[in-house]
Amino acid sequence: MSGARADLDREKAAAARAAVAEVRDGMIVGIGTGSTVAFAIAALAERCAQGLRVTGVATSLRSDAIARAAGIAMIDFADRATVDLAIDGVDEIDGRLRAIKGAGGAMLREKIVAAAAPRMIAIADSRKLVDRLGQAPLPVEVLPFARRFVQRRIEELGGAPHMREDAAGSPYRTDQGNGVLDCGFGRIHAAAELAAGLSAIPGIMGHGLFVGEIDALYVGRGDTAEYRERPNRPG
Ligand code: A5P
Repeated sequence: MSGARADLDREKAAAARAAVAEVRDGMIVGIGTGSTVAFAIAALAERCAQGLRVTGVATSLRSDAIARAAGIAMIDFADRATVDLAIDGVDEIDGRLRAIKGAGGAMLREKIVAAAAPRMIAIADSRKLVDRLGQAPLPVEVLPFARRFVQRRIEELGGAPHMREDAAGSPYRTDQGNGVLDCGFGRIHAAAELAAGLSAIPGIMGHGLFVGEIDALYVGRGDTAEYRERPNRPG
């Protein structure tokens, strides 16, 4: 492993440990998706092995499998209206805790679980913290039936959509069987307006722009994690 990669993993692990420290006995925990969340699953499994009783709901089939393999009791989110706490990674996050998510394709389920939680904690290495969102592409989950229509509407909003492919060059499919358009919007100046504009397009099943869901952030700094909260200002 390269030194830079090891440094990022230390930050991810520190952020994940700090978030998992907020989990209390008896909680239903929403478990996000991605490499940072993998550290959170490991930390949660460690606490469970020490006697903590929690139940997890996963935002992806992949996370569900990892959590079950780690020994965490998992249930299907379809049977739950709420969870107690959600923990998830981000692709980019700004100082107001607005984020781009979905590099792993799980943004639709991630946003639903975030909405079901009274508190959502983002966990990230320091590389993810940005002054302004938009360096990462914004993933949009699209019903395959509506692909061309949605592409045109996204272009009209100023985006440059690119259909995601899997490693074999076939159309990427989410856990729901939908496609993903990775959209370049340049620097995003009006995140809430863009999020609402995308949500209003028929055929878009969900998107990775999170403007009000994230309550708190643990960002790794070396072996420790810095804590931030979403400011109360509107917009
Ligand atoms: C999954 O679809 C994403 O939203 C992830 O939460 C995000 O991509 C962060 O993943 P990493 O922790 O692997 O960077």
